Amino acid sequence: MGEVRDPAAELAEVARELRRHVRWAQGRGETQAPLAGPGASELPVAVEIPPVARPGGADGLSLVRTELGDCRRCKLCEGRSNLVFGAGDPHADLVFVGEGPGAEEDEQGEPFVGKPGQLLTRMIEAMGLRREQVYICNVVKCRPPGNRSPEPEEIAACEPFLQAQLAALRPKAIVALGEFAAQTLLREQTPITRLRGTWRVYEGIPLMPTFHPAYLLRSPAEKAKAWDDLKLVMARLGMEPPARR
Ligand code: URA
Repeated sequence: MGEVRDPAAELAEVARELRRHVRWAQGRGETQAPLAGPGASELPVAVEIPPVARPGGADGLSLVRTELGDCRRCKLCEGRSNLVFGAGDPHADLVFVGEGPGAEEDEQGEPFVGKPGQLLTRMIEAMGLRREQVYICNVVKCRPPGNRSPEPEEIAACEPFLQAQLAALRPKAIVALGEFAAQTLLREQTPITRLRGTWRVYEGIPLMPTFHPAYLLRSPAEKAKAWDDLKLVMARLGMEPPARR
């Protein structure tokens, strides 16, 4: 008969592995290499495997959520109503990463549900997808007061959990929404105006930086560029080109 394992001991072991991964992620700092040119067709070859085995999908995500717990690792916990972990399909091919929750997200505990979130939903639907078919999360999980940008120590505290989420999700493509998410994931300071529309690589996963929906609400003339970026994502995922808009 096979060995009977204690589920609690097994979970504790996986949680230890996750903590090791978080420490590993905290110690890293290399730049992610760009893919060649806008819409480059080659898939990235360098897939870096982190030095721990982790479960993926829903199990992996729920472990990350458990590890995050009632997080008090940075001062953003003091003003939050709800921690906004992420939402969507744990097996999604496509993940959108934003900056951090705003007031409505903080209230509801869901990412991208305010005005910019409604625009993001329309963008996803224009791609022929439903929100539930993708996964949406943020760099930081708690609302920065007054919607300011997250500070370096807040990012440092939270980013390992984003990394662990993405490692569990292992999507076919990531869309980084806005300069903050793109620069954080790519570990570089290039402005979003130069990053957008060009395939990059995050941990072996193709990453497309594009404008943040909040920016698009302020600058609607830029929506066409964001749509061009999403069409590159659709092409890479082998999705049907949308009907002419
Ligand atoms: N802006 C973000 O970057 N994320 C959200 O969840 C909402 C607004």
